[in-house]
Amino acid sequence: MPVVRGKIIEPLYTAEQIAERNRDMAQRIASGPTKDLLVIAVLKGSFIFAADLIRSLHDSGLAPEVEFITLSSYGAGTVSQGVRIVKDIDSDVKDRDVLLIDDILESGRTLLFAKELLYERGARNVTIAVLLDKKVKRKENLEADYVGFECPDYFVVGYGMDVAYAFRELPFVGIVKGDAEA
Ligand code: IMP
Ligand code: MG
Repeated sequence: MPVVRGKIIEPLYTAEQIAERNRDMAQRIASGPTKDLLVIAVLKGSFIFAADLIRSLHDSGLAPEVEFITLSSYGAGTVSQGVRIVKDIDSDVKDRDVLLIDDILESGRTLLFAKELLYERGARNVTIAVLLDKKVKRKENLEADYVGFECPDYFVVGYGMDVAYAFRELPFVGIVKGDAEA
C-alpha cells in the first residue's frame, strides 16, 4: 500500500475508476440543462475533481464558463453551524444554468448554502455534481444531481481532499490507515 508522509494510505477509489466515473458524469451533465453553462467549483477540496471534470465536459461537447467560490464552515460541532463566503465568484449568474462542483456532499450545509445563494442571485437552474456522496452524514434535505461514488463513512484524503492540509496531491482517493513501520 502507498506510504505518504510516513502514513499508510489505503486506496478506496483508483485514478482509473475516478476517470471512468468522470467521463460518465460528463455525458450525463451534457444531456441536462446547459444553456450558457456556468460551472462553479467550490474550493478548496474540489480543485482536482473540477479540473478533470471540466475537461471531460469538453470531451462531451460542452464549452462552459468556469468560476471558483471559496466557502468555509464555521461552528462545526457546536449548535450554530453555518457557512461563509471566503472568496466569491466574479460573474453574474442571472438567468444562467449553473453547475456546482464539490468534492464531498456530507451534511449538505455547504452545497445548500451555495445553491440557495445562486437562486437568490437569479440563476435559472442550479445543479450539483459531487465526486463522493456520504449519505449517512446528511443533515439537510439536499441531493446531488450527479454523483461519482456513494462513499462509505470513512474520512478520505487525496484527489484534492486533505486532512490538516496534507495529501491533496494524491492521484487517488484513500483512507489514512496509520503509521508505516519505521
Ligand atoms: P458538508 O456537506 O457541508 O458537511 O461539507 C462537506 C465538506 O466537508 C466537503 O466539501 C469537504 O471539504 C469536507 N469533508 C467532509 N468529509 C471529508 C473527508 O472525508 N475528507 C476530507 N474532507 C471532507
Ligand atoms: Mg469542501
